Amino acid sequence: QVIDCKGLHVLPGLIDPHVHLRDPGDAKVETIGTGTKAAVLGGLTAVFDMPNTSPAITDTTRLDAKRAGLAGVAHCDVGLYVGATKTNIAGLADLEHQPNVCAIKVFAGSSTGDLMVEDDENLERVMRAGRRRIAYHSEDEYRLQARKPMFTPGMPHRNHMVWRDVEAAFLGTRRLMAIARRTGRPAHILHVSTAEELDYLSDYRDIATCEVLLNHLTQTDEAYDRLGGYAVMNPPIRDARHLEAAWAAVRDGRVDCVGSDHAPHSREAKERPWPTTAAGLTGVQTIVPLMLDHVSAGRLSLPRLADLMGTGPARVYGALNKGRLAVGYDGDVTVVDMKRQRTIEESWIVSPCGWTPFAGHRCTGWPMMTIVRGNVVMREDEVLGAPVGRPVAFADTARA
Ligand code: DOR
Ligand code: ZN
Ligand code: ZN
Repeated sequence: QVIDCKGLHVLPGLIDPHVHLRDPGDAKVETIGTGTKAAVLGGLTAVFDMPNTSPAITDTTRLDAKRAGLAGVAHCDVGLYVGATKTNIAGLADLEHQPNVCAIKVFAGSSTGDLMVEDDENLERVMRAGRRRIAYHSEDEYRLQARKPMFTPGMPHRNHMVWRDVEAAFLGTRRLMAIARRTGRPAHILHVSTAEELDYLSDYRDIATCEVLLNHLTQTDEAYDRLGGYAVMNPPIRDARHLEAAWAAVRDGRVDCVGSDHAPHSREAKERPWPTTAAGLTGVQTIVPLMLDHVSAGRLSLPRLADLMGTGPARVYGALNKGRLAVGYDGDVTVVDMKRQRTIEESWIVSPCGWTPFAGHRCTGWPMMTIVRGNVVMREDEVLGAPVGRPVAFADTARA
């Protein structure tokens, strides 16, 4: 088969290493089928899926069931996170070596679901249980709880103050780094959202890699006025100072991955008044168009994007492709048109929740074709063929 790519750019297959596809548990907002369909429409060849489902992925039985559910359903390849809880710590050293596990995920602050390890004693036990790089949701639960009395029901989202408070995220990062030093366990700090954390992590590059989210590179606090509950996520969208710091870190190589933290919720849950608004924004279908738009605006180069969404996640998580430490080669390809201008429309979104915080955003640069292991799965907005997605293989795990 010959594919004409004249005038287009051919990139290694792009990966979103941070999505919540809600499967099992909440098919009204997303499933593996709809979330991976959104992914290939948006130019992604693989996603790594978070474990805070219902029930959560915290043991081999649920992990095996989730893996088995991908065949014939997933449109792109899928890596699987396993969640740490206070009660599965003894099993984590075994769980992290199960086939297709990208990482053990630790939530240090409350979020959707009830996965949480917030105290130092249990965090240290988790860090000593196993040796692969651990993925860490960096927030400090005590700090989050302490600011609850500041919440006035129904106050405008901009005024809720949470987004101004950099301490919850920074405290979470400092506490984990102290434990990482003590235990020697490498960590990947997810969704670093403050200038302070980025500065601090510069001294921990030997044990810590990090991720920045598309939202923290694209939105500032004006989003609260414009979008209300549809701007609410954890860690929160912040002001321009932090956005600039995130771009500086992306440019000088201190950031390893960019993800979407795709976290669908129903419109009803997003429109609930503060402080009961559900936290989390959709993004798996829009991350590539928006990152291409950032390329067009001169904020990063196309090779740097291919690094942040291709070789970066492969390196951080140890993703393998035919035995090599890489995703995005060997037939995983994203073809983009850097001249194509297109506006993100809500009607384009295939996630059942049906909304995007980026409706109306005009992008210069758009994914034209997604190829997964040699199969053209998306061409000019059309999803082609039966779902071919498979679980991703990782180094240091057993073979499926
Ligand atoms: O905003 C968020 N939503 N942050 C998280 O950490 C979890 C996510 C979700 O699953 O809804
Ligand atoms: Zn998180
Ligand atoms: Zn997340």
